[in-house]
This record gives sequence, structure tokens and C-alpha cells, in this order.
Amino acid sequence: MAPAAAASLATPHTLAAPRVSVAVAGRNSGLSVSVGVRQVPGVSAVLSRRRMVATAAATEMAPAAKGEEGGKAFVEEMRAVAMRLHTKDQAREGEKEPQAPPVAKWEPTIEGYLRFLVDSKLVFQTLEDIVDRAAVPWYAEFRNTGLERSEQLKKDLEWFRQQGHTIPEPSAPGTTYASYLEELSEKDPQAFICHFYNVYFAHTAGGRMIGKKVAEKILNKKELEFYKWEGTLSQLLQNVRNKLNQVALSWSREEKDHCLEETEKSFAYSGDLLRQIFT
Ligand code: HEM
Repeated sequence: MAPAAAASLATPHTLAAPRVSVAVAGRNSGLSVSVGVRQVPGVSAVLSRRRMVATAAATEMAPAAKGEEGGKAFVEEMRAVAMRLHTKDQAREGEKEPQAPPVAKWEPTIEGYLRFLVDSKLVFQTLEDIVDRAAVPWYAEFRNTGLERSEQLKKDLEWFRQQGHTIPEPSAPGTTYASYLEELSEKDPQAFICHFYNVYFAHTAGGRMIGKKVAEKILNKKELEFYKWEGTLSQLLQNVRNKLNQVALSWSREEKDHCLEETEKSFAYSGDLLRQIFT
């Protein structure tokens, strides 16, 4: 597990301090995270839920993310945790101080962007294969959502190849993340779903913004397939939110909290992928 964040969070269940604040930075990613964690011996560390719920309540939500039975839908909680892990310059709801230049100041290179695209393809292909195999039966709910990206990335990489660029092999950020996802998908479904949500939703939000900036700077504004969806994106996202909410209805509070706790690792792994664009 490469990211410093992930390493330092590897043993949260063993600490017994009543309330511990952990500040963690994704390795050189600039995607630093800091989350208050309530540590309970022998039980999943519980994110300071009250604060999180307050944040979620203050968050402008897409209307359909509301709970099926009038309660707070789980996706709102996932989103609230994710938004807090952004830096203030990344998103309005971000709470972290920036530690890297804002996207607008990135100086991307084609080589770096290609490494990012190749690794992203591996990660999306891995997510798609996992839900197709559905080792856990309810993963099947997340097949063919319309958010899949590996085919689009394949086309984009072929376009780069035709432009005379050499397509690299996947590198450590991609291969490490892909094996971690494989492992989680077998052993820890709730944590796996956290990554599934963050990877797909991040790409449609900040990911798209980054794609646009990079295209302006080094691709003569060429719009890649990676950033195009068939149908209405907001509807595709809403369908997935509904499925996530539905699946989480059967989870215990501990399982939900465990899923939320994984968000930091998701940021750390994705941060390592993104950082390749400008290094
Ligand atoms: C430079 C990096 C990033 C930038 C600039 C960025 C920016 C943004 C922005 C502008 C939004 C929309 C906020 C809104 O709805 O008002 C957003 C949403 C979001 N981001 Fe990021 N983000 C970045 C990295 C990440 C990473 C690494 C993750 C997790 C792996 C992530 C996960 C999410 C999620 C889950 C949402 C909510 C999407 C939704 O509700 O549809 N972001 N981000």
C-alpha cells in the first residue's frame, strides 16, 4: 500500500484514545486529509458522525439522494465525508488547506497524462471486472451503470497511439490500487463500495474539470472519450446513488461507518494517480 495516508491508517482499530484526530497527506498528492476519528477498541473506528451529519445537512444535495424511507440516505453521508477531504481550492465544501498548486496552475505533460490514463484504465477495468464477477452477490447491482470507463479509455489510448505517442505499461499507482481493490472486493465489501463510489463520482466531478484544463493546456482542447457519457450523466449518477442507498439499507451502522472510514484511502490512492499528470 503505497500512500502514506493508507499506511498510517492501517491500524485504527487498535487505538483506544477516546477521540483522536488524524492528519494525513496522500503521498505528495497534495490531497491531504484530516478527519476526527472516535476510536473504540475492538469495534470499527467511528468517524465523528454527529459532525459529519451536520456537514451533510448543510450540503446542497441532489434531490434524489434523499433516503428511501425519509431517513438520511447513505450516499449523503459518503458525499459529506468525501467533500470534507477536498482542499478549499478544489471544492467549495472542501475543508483542507491546499498543499499543492491548484489544478489551474498544473503544468501537465503528455507523458504524465498518459501514465494517468493508463493507470486509470486499469483501475476502472478492475472495478468493472469485480462487479461483473460479483463474488458478493449484490455487486451485480452495479453492472452496466453507464458510468463504466475502461472502453472509453481504450479508445483514447488508441487515439494517442495513432498520434505517434508510446503508450506506457501500467505503473505502480495503478497496479497497487488495482490489487488493493481486488483484495477488498473479496474480504471487505463495504470498504470496496467506498472506493467504487469515490472513483466513479470523483471522475464525473473534479475529474472532468481536470480533463478540461489538461485538454486546454496540452491537447488543443481535444475532448477525450473518458469525459463523455452516453445518455444524461446526472441521471446515470442518480441511478447509482439509488442503488448504493438500496444496498446500504441492509448494512449495520458499524458497516456503514466502516465504509465511510475508507474514504481517506480512496483519496490517497486516487491522489497518487492524479499526481502523475503534473510530475
Ligand atoms: C484535484 C483534485 C480534485 C478536485 C479539483 C475536485 C473537485 C471536486 C468538485 C468541484 C466537486 C463538486 C462539488 C459540488 O458538487 O459542489 C467534487 C465532488 C466530489 N469529489 Fe472531488 N475533486 C478532486 C479530487 C477528488 C478525489 C481524489 C476524490 C476521491 C477519490 C474525490 C471525490 C469526490 C466526490 C465523491 C464528489 C461528490 C460527487 C457528487 O456528489 O456527485 N474528489 N470534487
